[in-house]
Amino acid sequence: MDLSTEVAGIKFKNPLLPAAGPLTGDDKKMKYVASLGVGGMVTKTISTEAAKVPRPCIVATNNYVVNAELWSEYGPSKWIEEFLPGIQSLEIPKIISIGYSKEQIEWLIPRLKDFGDAFEISTHYVGKDLHPIAEVAKAASKLAGKPVFMKVSPHMPDPVEFAKVVTESGAAGVVAVNSLGPAYYVDPKTGHSPLGSENRYGWISGPVIKPLALSIVQRIRQSLNIPVIGVGGVKNAEDVIEFLEVGASAVGMLSSALIFGKEQYRRVINGLENALKNRGYASVKDAIGKKLDVQHAEFVVNNPKVDMEKCTLCKLCEYVCPYFAIEVTDREVKVDPNACFGCGLCESRCPTKAISGVLK
Ligand SMILES: Cc1cc2nc3c(=O)[nH]c(=O)nc-3n(C[C@H](O)[C@H](O)[C@H](O)COP(=O)(O)O)c2cc1C
Repeated sequence: MDLSTEVAGIKFKNPLLPAAGPLTGDDKKMKYVASLGVGGMVTKTISTEAAKVPRPCIVATNNYVVNAELWSEYGPSKWIEEFLPGIQSLEIPKIISIGYSKEQIEWLIPRLKDFGDAFEISTHYVGKDLHPIAEVAKAASKLAGKPVFMKVSPHMPDPVEFAKVVTESGAAGVVAVNSLGPAYYVDPKTGHSPLGSENRYGWISGPVIKPLALSIVQRIRQSLNIPVIGVGGVKNAEDVIEFLEVGASAVGMLSSALIFGKEQYRRVINGLENALKNRGYASVKDAIGKKLDVQHAEFVVNNPKVDMEKCTLCKLCEYVCPYFAIEVTDREVKVDPNACFGCGLCESRCPTKAISGVLK
């Protein structure tokens, strides 16, 4: 099956990229991640100074990561003399992540541009004002002479406007999204955040942010026909397809590789062909943008139907029903149609998929 994709004229053998972070923090790490089969490379964000990263800086649970990492802990000379020359032998497109101000970008691009196929510019620490972000996009696109992708953070109030402004300023597309925050993680053992950052705050990412990231990608693509690299919460091949369906042309992943191990990149790529087939797609390109229809609000109440062959009378639907409409006896599940609000929670929580008829 054809797993290849194209983003702003750059061809990738498959759509999975590492998102900028510690796993792409030097040439050895990038070579290792490349050996897992990713379609392209995205470096850790490089800036004009090495970041002074507080420690500890990464904690994780099964479905999220909270990090306080900033940008690369190495300054630009290390990247220019060692890390970027070190990945030139990789036969995959290389996206160089840089940040943050116009002055920093103008200093970095001439020194880095021969090492990559595109730039990704993090806007994570530049605030919510679109004016300086547009200036960065304009200066970067002029200097780079190759595609520039602006990375949007989920705290941006209007990601669609962000995408519009940066592409009108010359950016080839956007990367959506960065991690969300600030977030305060409490270690159950100690009752406080173990991170070394000021206020002990970090940024949250991983599977819990996927619905948020999907909606941002979808909203951008419903309004604009621009290349988008979707990032946020990807864990498996099905998630990659969900990002493609809402309009992403390639998909980044980081936190799931931190939570489940680096092999997660290989697992996701190995699962792509089957996952595409299961959803009826003949290729990666076939899936892109398939869920971009604008849906209108609906108000019809549908009551749950219960398949007693599948029901185990576990009572979870009764316990969770916020409208007190379900009663589970030792033989049946009774739904009070007058009390049922048609909310759908019971169907989404039923562990044996015995409930149907409410969710679309
Ligand atoms: C430990 C860590 C370090 C990160 N460092 C960067 C970075 O240097 N530059 C950047 O643009 N994003 C950085 N990110 C954000 C990720 O690239 C990504 O946008 C975000 O984590 C959402 O994707 P995920 O849920 O697959 O991790 C970092 C995330 C984590 C967890």
